[in-house]
Amino acid sequence: MFANRILSGMRPTGSLHLGHYHGVIKNWVELQADHDCYFMVADWHALTTNYDDVAIIEKSIWDMVIDWLASGIDPEQATIFIQSKVPQHAELHLALSMVTPLGWLERVPTYKDQMEKLSQKDLATYGFLGYPLLQAADILIYKAGLVPVGEDQVPHIELTREVARRFNNLFGREPDFEERARAAVKKIGKAAKSFEQLRTRYLQDGDGEALLQARDILAASQNLGGADRERLLGYLENKGKIILPECEALLTAASKMPGLDGLKMSKSYKNTITMREAPADVSKKIRAMPTDPARVRRTDAGDPDKCPVWQLHQVYSDESTRDWVKQGCRSAGIGCIECKQPVIDGVLKEQQPMFERAEQYLSNPALVREIVFEGCRKAELVARETMKDVRSAIGLGY
Ligand code: TRP
Ligand code: SF4
Repeated sequence: MFANRILSGMRPTGSLHLGHYHGVIKNWVELQADHDCYFMVADWHALTTNYDDVAIIEKSIWDMVIDWLASGIDPEQATIFIQSKVPQHAELHLALSMVTPLGWLERVPTYKDQMEKLSQKDLATYGFLGYPLLQAADILIYKAGLVPVGEDQVPHIELTREVARRFNNLFGREPDFEERARAAVKKIGKAAKSFEQLRTRYLQDGDGEALLQARDILAASQNLGGADRERLLGYLENKGKIILPECEALLTAASKMPGLDGLKMSKSYKNTITMREAPADVSKKIRAMPTDPARVRRTDAGDPDKCPVWQLHQVYSDESTRDWVKQGCRSAGIGCIECKQPVIDGVLKEQQPMFERAEQYLSNPALVREIVFEGCRKAELVARETMKDVRSAIGLGY
């Protein structure tokens, strides 16, 4: 397992807006400095719901990558790639599908939710039912330790863990597992004896501290190859070899990014500001925002709590500006257009560096393609290794 490795993805189904930026991408930018990050354009995922409008997928891919780069995702630090260009995602998805009970997929909460939400589309497809399993394959193919997700995606991470566990249980029991494990213990060297003692403490007394210490020994041992390490991780818990390690969700605080109408910013509500929205349109959109309906005339006092503009002040304004708003709104001391100006300024200020970073990519599309192709190449090197283990575990190692 790569405890420090992060995998996350986003569907290319339209232009990204500030809700994506505040909810996901800003977090990615922070993570990339001290994690081994893989950021994926989830084009197969996009097809599961957008198979009837594929043009938008191709169009969105490059714009989306430019938005990532514009936000500060750095291709020197993070690996940016396209899911379908790394064929092992589809291959592992198929392998996992053999051992995944249908009920596990039918019970994923987003399955029924999305079917109802997108009721104008026929989502009674095999691909749509299986998409959380595809997501599991996305994560497991990189043996990623951490997956940054919002609350709504946690059931997908749970499923990923269950599928990995089942796969390891089914296929990690090589015929001569015990023998190989004992041979591997010898390779640990000096710490072999304490490893065995810690294992006994864990297996007999359920001592969790002993388990952690034994894992540390494995992590620190220079002599072990990857396969032996995975074997011993399983042996330690009296399980089979760990072929696909279980990841963990890295919960990101739910984005409170409000849209122009006060509801959550979302393309389907038509209340968005896109990430690189032209400044004139930003001003126009914010000036047109509804305010507290009680403020019909400039002289009517208002209540910020009933106004969507106030929610944007929470994101973009400092405390003194917010005091100015509260004061001025309640006393009719300021007008709504006046009140909106700091929000407009805040958005424009946030977007300024994005425009600057985007410029070199917009004027040189080949550069974007190069970054993505290099990312695909790097991702595939890792994915190929995992698939080798998986194939050999399921008897397709020829
Ligand atoms: N399912 C996510 C979405 O619909 C995108 C996604 C695909 C993803 N594969 C992933 C996210 C793997 C995290 C990890 O938005
Ligand atoms: Fe909303 Fe500001 Fe107008 Fe008050 S003054 S209603 S907070 S826009």
